[in-house]
Amino acid sequence: MIKPSKTVANLKPYFFAGLKGKLADLAERGVDVIRLDMGSPDLPPADFIIDKLVESARNPKKHGYSPAGGTPEFLKAVSTYYKRRFNVDINPATEALGLIGSKEGLFNLNHTLLDPGDMVLLPDPYYPVYLAGAELTGARYHFMPLLKKNNFLPDFDAIPEDVAREAKIMWLNYPNNPTGATADLSFYAKAVAYARKYDILIAHDAPYCDLAFGDYIPPSILEVEGAKEVAVEFNSLSKTYNMAGWRIGMAVGNAEIIRLLANYKSQIDSSIFAPIQDAAVVALTSDQTWLQNRNKIYEARRDVVYQGLVDAGFEVDLPEAALYLWAKLPKGFSDPVNFCADLLEDTGVSITPGVIYGPSGADYIRISIVIPTDQIAEAMRRIKDWVEKQR
Ligand SMILES: Cc1ncc(COP(=O)(O)O)c(C=O)c1O
Repeated sequence: MIKPSKTVANLKPYFFAGLKGKLADLAERGVDVIRLDMGSPDLPPADFIIDKLVESARNPKKHGYSPAGGTPEFLKAVSTYYKRRFNVDINPATEALGLIGSKEGLFNLNHTLLDPGDMVLLPDPYYPVYLAGAELTGARYHFMPLLKKNNFLPDFDAIPEDVAREAKIMWLNYPNNPTGATADLSFYAKAVAYARKYDILIAHDAPYCDLAFGDYIPPSILEVEGAKEVAVEFNSLSKTYNMAGWRIGMAVGNAEIIRLLANYKSQIDSSIFAPIQDAAVVALTSDQTWLQNRNKIYEARRDVVYQGLVDAGFEVDLPEAALYLWAKLPKGFSDPVNFCADLLEDTGVSITPGVIYGPSGADYIRISIVIPTDQIAEAMRRIKDWVEKQR
C-alpha cells in the first residue's frame, strides 16, 4: 500500500469534509437543516458580469490557454480598482498577479518563500490555509492570539524577540474571518513598521474588504506609506462580487514577491479561463452601486444574528464587515465542539466551533450570514429555544 508523505499524513482533516457526512445523514432522516457554517455567498453576481462571461465564452478565440499570471486587461483592471477603491498605485506589469481564487495564492506563497524550519507568524484564530501552507513546507509557526481585549488584533509586543528576528512571513487578515474584526490604518502602520524593523514580509489577506456595513469602509494595508516595501495583499472577486465559484483573485504589492510568486505559479498552473478574466474586468471597472444594495442585505442578516445571539445569552460584538459573527458561548456551556454537534443533532442548525480556527477560538462559535434572512431568523429562534432547554 502506498503511503502519503509524512507532511500530508500529519494534516488535520478538513472540518467541513467531516460535516458533509453528518449533514447528509440528517437530510436522509428528513431533518430541516439550516446551514450557518460556510462562507460561500448565496447571491449571484450582477447580470452585466454574467452577460460578459457568456459573450466572451462565445468567442472561439477565448478558449486557449491565457497568459500566465493574468491577461494584461485583467491586471490593468486590478490596478484601476486599487486606484479607485484605495487610492493606491499598482503597476499592472510588475505589482499585480492573477490567482485562481486567492486561496491558491495564499497557499503557494508559502512554497515560494519558505524552506523547512523557517518561521511564520500566524494569527490565531486563522483561515486554515495559512497553517496548512506552513505545515506542508515544513516551516515552524508562532501564533499571534487575536483576543477580544485587543479588539482581535495581534499584539506585536507579545511576540518574543527571537521569534520576531527569525520570522519570514506574517499573515494578517482584515476584515477578519472568523472574528469579523476590522483594522484601521494606524494598526496597518504599526504592522508595516514592525515588518520593516524585523525584515518580515506581511501577507495581508483582504477578501472581505468590500463587504462592510453602515458607513464603514475598510482600508488596504497598501495605503500605508512604504507598505509595498514589506507587504503583499491578497484580494478576491469571490466575496466582493459574489463570484466564489468562478475562482479568480489577485495578489498586489511588493514587485519582487509578485515576481517570485508568478514564477512559482507558472510551473504548476496555466492561468485563469479568459472569459472569467474578461467578466472580472467588467466587475472591477463598472458601476459598483449594486454592491451597496447587496451589503444592505448582509447588514440586515447580521442584525438578525446579532440580536438572536444576544437574546440567547452569547457574548458577541456587532461586526462592521465580513460575513461572520464570532460569539462566546453562553454561561453554563464550555465545549463548543459538543455544543455545535448537539445543536445540529437536536435542531438541524449547523454552526462552526471556533476551535477549528485555532486554540484562541476554544470558547467561541462562528455563524455566517450567507442564507436568506427568513431562514436565518428561523435558525436563531431554534438556537434560543434549544439553549433555554439545556439550562
Ligand atoms: C480569510 C479568507 N481568505 C481567503 C479566502 C479564499 O477566497 P477565494 O475564494 O478567493 O479563494 C477565504 C474564503 O472563505 C477567506 O475566508
